[in-house]
Amino acid sequence: MRTKNATAEVRKYYDVKDFLLGEGAFGKVFLASSKTDENAKYAIKILPLAMLSKSTKTQMEQEICVLNKLDHPYVARYAQSFQDEKYIYIIMPLIPGQELFNWMEEQGKVDEVEACKIMYKILLGVNHVHKQGVIHRDLKPENIMIDDQGEPKIIDFGLSLDTVTEGIDTRRVGSLIFMAPEIIEGFAHTSACDIWSLGIILFMMLSGSYPFNLNNIEKEITDTPLLFLGPTWDEVSHDCKDLLLKMLTKDPGERISAQDALSHPWMRLRSSDAESPEKLRSGAIPEEIGTPHNLDKNTIQHLLDYRGMSLVRMAGINVLVSMLQKKDIDPLRVLFEEMDKDKTGFITPEELAQAISQSEIQLDSEQQAEILKNVDVHRNGKINYSEFLAATISIQEFLTEEKLWMIFRHFDIDDTDFISRDNIVEAMRRMGKRLTEEEVDESLKVHDICQDGKISFAEFRHMFFPNEDFSPSPTALRKAQSVVSSSPEK
Ligand SMILES: Nc1ncnc2c1ncn2[C@@H]1O[C@H](COP(=O)(O)OP(=O)(O)OP(=O)(O)O)[C@@H](O)[C@H]1O
Ligand SMILES: [Mg+2]
Repeated sequence: MRTKNATAEVRKYYDVKDFLLGEGAFGKVFLASSKTDENAKYAIKILPLAMLSKSTKTQMEQEICVLNKLDHPYVARYAQSFQDEKYIYIIMPLIPGQELFNWMEEQGKVDEVEACKIMYKILLGVNHVHKQGVIHRDLKPENIMIDDQGEPKIIDFGLSLDTVTEGIDTRRVGSLIFMAPEIIEGFAHTSACDIWSLGIILFMMLSGSYPFNLNNIEKEITDTPLLFLGPTWDEVSHDCKDLLLKMLTKDPGERISAQDALSHPWMRLRSSDAESPEKLRSGAIPEEIGTPHNLDKNTIQHLLDYRGMSLVRMAGINVLVSMLQKKDIDPLRVLFEEMDKDKTGFITPEELAQAISQSEIQLDSEQQAEILKNVDVHRNGKINYSEFLAATISIQEFLTEEKLWMIFRHFDIDDTDFISRDNIVEAMRRMGKRLTEEEVDESLKVHDICQDGKISFAEFRHMFFPNEDFSPSPTALRKAQSVVSSSPEK
């Protein structure tokens, strides 16, 4: 959001630490924590506008729009942004871990099974990005994080192209050694350029070396055929080489897509039972792998109970999700991936029906339609990752009184102990959601039980615990305040 003094706004909500997480072409990324919750860590990307050209400034603003439309377990999440005349601050939940770059350096040559597991997840993320009409254009080991659970997250959409809003681009962007031939030659960019970059990353992971001669790099990239030279490649499976050849095909029109790469035979190697490429070669690995994770009774019950939804409630739950530990969310992530059969990062009505039909509870088509209607807050006819988390996370288990109060404070921007209409608009804007007048009206209609035009803490509480008795008295607020003021970090 645009403000008079973005630095002051950021410092109001975040403790920006004197710890540099990373530095790139235009800005620096610092560690920060929330003022209300020291355990909630963030990465704050600071871009000094004064030093940037007009087109770069627009590109930075574009990064926020792109981050905001992506919603996937393997893509960095966007929290909020602040902008004034001098700076843009992009705030993202911290990804604890290291860049794929350091991870690869540490590993030397990456074992083929390990490489497959990581590349599969990166491709899931990239497929989602592409399905949203976005091309990353700067995929390289510095722009993929490996978190503390060893899982990848794609970051840095600073050079991305949103083909839906921006159309065609032929400019030369990206980092030369990961740059696709068509970008070097000045042709229009398509999502295929990201697959080329991932092909180079995969080649480097497995061999520890670059596939082309760096001395004449541009000509090498555009003209020299890919070869697997040296003893390293004797150890690598035929399927892997086949996929690499398909990812590093010079003609972007002929290159494999993320969607097809995900179902390439090499991807079966990611099964943890497949210790060796020999098993893959001998066809010992079955087509369908992994333990199936079905929708259990509890999760279906959460989906059925998920009523009284509104964009505000969902934003509140997103704040809660950002406060939780990864291990708390992981079972739901695995379930989401399992249900997302076509691997686009969305659950379609058909996929939902399929998951329900395989579960222990049978629901009729009306009940299924009801679930979709309730969960699909963004009204795009399918369930995205945040919507899924919001609908399935156990509020009872994770939403403590202290966390509820912190989420309330997220909305009660001016500390009046009430969430006003303006507060809703502003808080949602900071989280990247521009609400229409009708949407704000709708949220107030649902949550402002006392109909005084604002949401009290008791009403806010009721939003998350609708089955508990509603008491409009301020006791709840006092109770929550006392929880916070007596907590050790206060
Ligand atoms: N959410 C995050 N959590 C942890 N570390 C991060 C996060 N985002 C970025 N970093 C670190 O900061 C580095 C720089 O971030 P990023 O790649 O987004 O910016 P950049 O390279 O400066 O971008 P640009 O090229 O657009 O200026 C990353 O390589 C990574 O090490
Ligand atoms: Mg970067």
